[in-house]
Amino acid sequence: MGSNTFRSWGFADALDPSSRSELEALTKRMHAFYTDPANAIYWEQADAGNERWLPETHPYHCDLRSRMTTGERVVDFGCGGTHAFSNLKLAEVLYTGLDWSTDQVAQNRSREPEATYIAGSVMDGAREIDGSADWAISLFAIEHCTFPDRMLRRMAEAVRPGGRVAILCPDFEPGMPSLRAGFTAATRRDKFRRLQWLDLAWGIVQDKVFWPRRLRAVHRSSMRLPIYLHPRCLDAPYYSDTDAVFLATEAKIADHLQSLGLEVTTRGRRLDLPHAANLGICYVIAEKA
Ligand SMILES: C[S@@+](CC[C@H](N)C(=O)[O-])C[C@H]1O[C@@H](n2cnc3c(N)ncnc32)[C@H](O)[C@@H]1O
Repeated sequence: MGSNTFRSWGFADALDPSSRSELEALTKRMHAFYTDPANAIYWEQADAGNERWLPETHPYHCDLRSRMTTGERVVDFGCGGTHAFSNLKLAEVLYTGLDWSTDQVAQNRSREPEATYIAGSVMDGAREIDGSADWAISLFAIEHCTFPDRMLRRMAEAVRPGGRVAILCPDFEPGMPSLRAGFTAATRRDKFRRLQWLDLAWGIVQDKVFWPRRLRAVHRSSMRLPIYLHPRCLDAPYYSDTDAVFLATEAKIADHLQSLGLEVTTRGRRLDLPHAANLGICYVIAEKA
């Protein structure tokens, strides 16, 4: 299958130079989405459920925290609100959060003055911390990056030799929400309640019939970092993860970190964490030589 087929399905490879201008255009639209005050609903929903990390509900977050020691410098790429800092306080680390949203960063600064917050892109921002961090972490942000390779490179640049890069994100092997949203992005339960039968049926057909074979082909293809060019958050009201663009899998992230010269030391799939089965999460930690 050639790249034109994948393009007709809406995918481009972040590492393909011929996709660059299209992905730059998508980057601008995503930036506008995250910084538009009209998208307040996004900020209400994006952090929901992450206020408190408990081993039963957040096994990977807790595992990551348990690997940190007092006084370590942690930089959080795509930090969103203050929940990561408030949970990492337990580990007594020195925390810096980086996010695109200037409003969110301003709010974070007033809520948590002990932490440092920087407004900027995870794909090229926060140069001032280069080489000084013990940890560069990113929690549920890489899947929103139009150039995940740039974010991973920035994370590798941020840490000192011996420092670690850690990624937590959804595992989109079975697909991503924009691919099964039907005509309007909403939960199946809401569509059922609103009697949107056609919409509900189309979402199920997309999920069970239309995409599975195509997705297998995308995963098997030579595309190393596949980006979906039509995230539904840009044309419909936001609902859970319709702002994801990178078809993230643990293998793709681990391979890319390795290609940057880091040694992958931890893969979620190989850990036997209680409560972690079926969460559908990628978890990768890699160490800089
Ligand atoms: C789903 S939220 C995750 C927030 C937080 N890490 C968490 O675990 O709740 C994704 C965050 O990534 C940020 N983001 C997405 N793309 C970004 C980029 N290129 N540069 C900086 N931040 C970005 C968004 O502004 C948003 O705060």
